[in-house]
Amino acid sequence: MKIIVITGSPHRNGTTFLLTDEWIKGAESQGHEVIRFDAGLHPVHPCTGCDHCRSHEGKCVFDDLMTQILPALLSTDLVLLSTPLYYFGFSAQIKAVLDRFYAVNEEVIAKPLKAMLLAAGGDSDDWAMGALEHHYETVCRYLHWQDTGRLLALGLNTREDAEASSYPRQARLLGASIH
Ligand SMILES: Cc1cc2nc3c(=O)[nH]c(=O)nc-3n(C[C@H](O)[C@H](O)[C@H](O)COP(=O)(O)O)c2cc1C
Repeated sequence: MKIIVITGSPHRNGTTFLLTDEWIKGAESQGHEVIRFDAGLHPVHPCTGCDHCRSHEGKCVFDDLMTQILPALLSTDLVLLSTPLYYFGFSAQIKAVLDRFYAVNEEVIAKPLKAMLLAAGGDSDDWAMGALEHHYETVCRYLHWQDTGRLLALGLNTREDAEASSYPRQARLLGASIH
């Protein structure tokens, strides 16, 4: 299976990357082909709603990482959204990617995709990921994506927290569960 991973953390050595790396190892152990885009390291310009795309066959005025993400998304089988929890939702880096789907909404909707969500947050409250999950489910519903799994890692403020937890193992198992 072809897989595209989109990460939204600015921290190369942070919790999200640690869990994403484990998830990818799990997926690759099952023979899946993974392409990764780190939107937190190579920022995607936020959509400005100029609607240039509406009269230019989906072409955006911004020439950035999205020019690679969109073709990869449209030729993949599964997408992983991997985000740190920022103010109880996706990080702005991931949100910018989602907003930029606007330019090619119809094409994205027409492509049947499986999806997974991986998130890491500092809080330990069981409600901390509620808004993120709701947003993710709504995006899946709108884009006709089939949710096939999620790992919501609570209580992770630092990479050390993550390393001391069972989440890396859970992330690897989730990646290896793809079929
Ligand atoms: C701008 C910002 C907003 C945050 N908002 C939340 C939040 O709403 N809930 C939470 O549990 N943690 C929050 N955190 C903590 C991060 O989610 C947590 O430290 C996470 O592990 C960071 O992932 P990273 O190391 O991959 O960047 C926030 C951190 C930042 C920098």
